Amino acid sequence: MSTKIEMLKAEFEKEIELCENSEAIEKIRVAYLGKKGKITELLGELKNVPNEEKKAFGQNVNLLKKFAADKIAEQVEIIKKAEEEKLINSAETYDLSLPSSEESGSYHPITLVQREVEEIFASMGFTIEDYVEITDDYHCFEALNIPKHHPARDMQDTYYLDNGQLLKTHTSAAQNAIMKKYGAPLRAIFPGRCFRNESTDACHENTFFQMEGMMIDKDISISNLIYFMKKMLSEVFKQDINVRLRPGFFPFVEPGFELDISCTICGGKGCPSCKNSGWLELCPCGMIHPNVLKAGGIDPEEYTGFAFGLGLTRLAMMRFGVKDIRDLNSGNLKALDQFKHE
Ligand code: DAH
Repeated sequence: MSTKIEMLKAEFEKEIELCENSEAIEKIRVAYLGKKGKITELLGELKNVPNEEKKAFGQNVNLLKKFAADKIAEQVEIIKKAEEEKLINSAETYDLSLPSSEESGSYHPITLVQREVEEIFASMGFTIEDYVEITDDYHCFEALNIPKHHPARDMQDTYYLDNGQLLKTHTSAAQNAIMKKYGAPLRAIFPGRCFRNESTDACHENTFFQMEGMMIDKDISISNLIYFMKKMLSEVFKQDINVRLRPGFFPFVEPGFELDISCTICGGKGCPSCKNSGWLELCPCGMIHPNVLKAGGIDPEEYTGFAFGLGLTRLAMMRFGVKDIRDLNSGNLKALDQFKHE
């Protein structure tokens, strides 16, 4: 009887050595240790074994059972490792010592100007705030003293979502949330992408960047605004820039102004970028309307403030002499490559 056990053990050892993958091992496990497996069935033969040999037979079958189970577990580990290694070797390999491509990326000119302006304002105590691109009617219009059906909405047609939300038409849309977040006094700038449903030409795009700013405190006046704007522009252009203030109407400021700067592309002579006027509208601004302060939870009897909406895209065009606004969103690397070393 014990020779039968030994023969079965030899047979098992031979078969398990030949296994090359996990499925083959599983088959062997079932063939030897399964319900109707060869080792399991050996135990069924116990009844035919003479009484005096029963004990030794039972022990030997159990030893074989344990031997087979251990061997299978061991083999499973070996095969798993081999399979993993195969997978790693078949994956794409990288040679990190190879020289990289000579093409390197660069910041977009608007990003460059944005960072420059941020740095200047940060040095003057302004915090830099982030705001969403998708907002609602309240933040984009109502909270800014632009009720439904106000004619000022005509100039800011935008893209509406099915759920009633919209793509913000100006960075002013963040004013209410920032006032509520910090209360007064506050100094903040908030750059952002804006959208308008309008036809494009050399100086209009449906997607552009603005940088809004607000300063709210006791006794803030328009002279504070002029000071901050002049300081920022002369640092960006690294020279004294000609500016002019014209009255301008925006429902969220009173009084409201247009701050223009002399066209840096034609030097004020007139060109397509400045619609031949020699001036570029750069920064509408004004004293924040009491209704807007109230909507933001700030008492207009106690605090006043100025706000401005700097055309960041336009500023980048002037700073880098970009003639057509559409080049900036074109994704055309030839147009963008020239800013690589800025
Ligand atoms: N949000 C206005 C626009 O995009 C620009 C603007 C005007 C912003 C006056 C201001 C402001 O903060 O005071 O047309």
